[in-house]
Amino acid sequence: MQIPHISVMPNEVKEIFKPIEDGYLIDCTLGYAGHTHMLLDEKNSLHVIGCDRDEEAIEFSKKRLEKFKNRVTIEHKNFSNIVSKYEHLPIRGILADVGVSSLQLDSNDRGFGFDSLKLDMRMDTAQTLSAYEVVNRYSKNELERVLKDYGELREYKKIAKLICDTREKNPIKEAKTLADLVGRKGHVNGRKVSPATLVFQAIRIEVNQELNELEELLRSIKMSSIDECIVCIISFHSLEDRIVKQTFKAWSKSCVCPSSALKCECGNNNALGWIITKKAVEPTSEEIKTNPRSRSSKLRAFYIKRGAREG
Ligand SMILES: C[S@@+](CC[C@H](N)C(=O)[O-])C[C@H]1O[C@@H](n2cnc3c(N)ncnc32)[C@H](O)[C@@H]1O
Repeated sequence: MQIPHISVMPNEVKEIFKPIEDGYLIDCTLGYAGHTHMLLDEKNSLHVIGCDRDEEAIEFSKKRLEKFKNRVTIEHKNFSNIVSKYEHLPIRGILADVGVSSLQLDSNDRGFGFDSLKLDMRMDTAQTLSAYEVVNRYSKNELERVLKDYGELREYKKIAKLICDTREKNPIKEAKTLADLVGRKGHVNGRKVSPATLVFQAIRIEVNQELNELEELLRSIKMSSIDECIVCIISFHSLEDRIVKQTFKAWSKSCVCPSSALKCECGNNNALGWIITKKAVEPTSEEIKTNPRSRSSKLRAFYIKRGAREG
């Protein structure tokens, strides 16, 4: 079986989940089951609930995980809805590797890659909003918002205007056309990144509501009844990493009184647990060499233990 995706930071993920021997682990982004396969192989008493919103990934992983079928539950879902469904079980680990899979990026008909013949970018192909609608039907103001908020492009007005002027003549139907239009080469915002990279990132985030999904996942973990669990999130750009970093920081706070309070009135026992990774973990240079797509990944982990101080 040819595996179309190389999992990022496998050893680091293994290390983070080392304390877990049994119970359940939720893999929120099953993808091609690389991380799940590795964890099931290593831990004979672990059960994994694997979730993905991409039907193609689900079908592939069902086959790949056939030999573990008694210890796997597979769900075609958005991960924002997964924790509430399974929180009654002894969940000991939650993993989310929130990027795009290599198969999604490399498929000519999915619209994620610069050379794709479609303008799609939907992870869940049953959803209605696609990149085609964003590029061809969004107003100039809406396009500016997407490019500014999700691409952090300084030239968001200029690029939105370029897209609007072009689509007035003919609709933009292919990812290829969009990539050529905004530029596949060059530097943006003083960084070694092309305008197309950031424009595609922005549109993908809008189409898949990626930041909302991540925020909602983290909120659902906090609100759940899970009492002891390791949460590990791998992200691929600074917007996501910022959300994870700030959330974990807030979760680790024991005192939640407003900064204006003269004395603590919250009980000073509100920490959800503690941060495992004081700094984000990044792939080694060897990993980046063999899997260049791992280069922007950052891993952060948190140990949930409700009602306990760090120890
Ligand atoms: C980087 S891949 C995961 C690869 C996987 N860890 C492996 O080792 O094979 C990310 C996957 O997450 C899925 N995904 C992204 N956002 C999602 C969401 N909000 N809900 C469910 N799945 C999501 C994508 O469809 C994709 O298959």
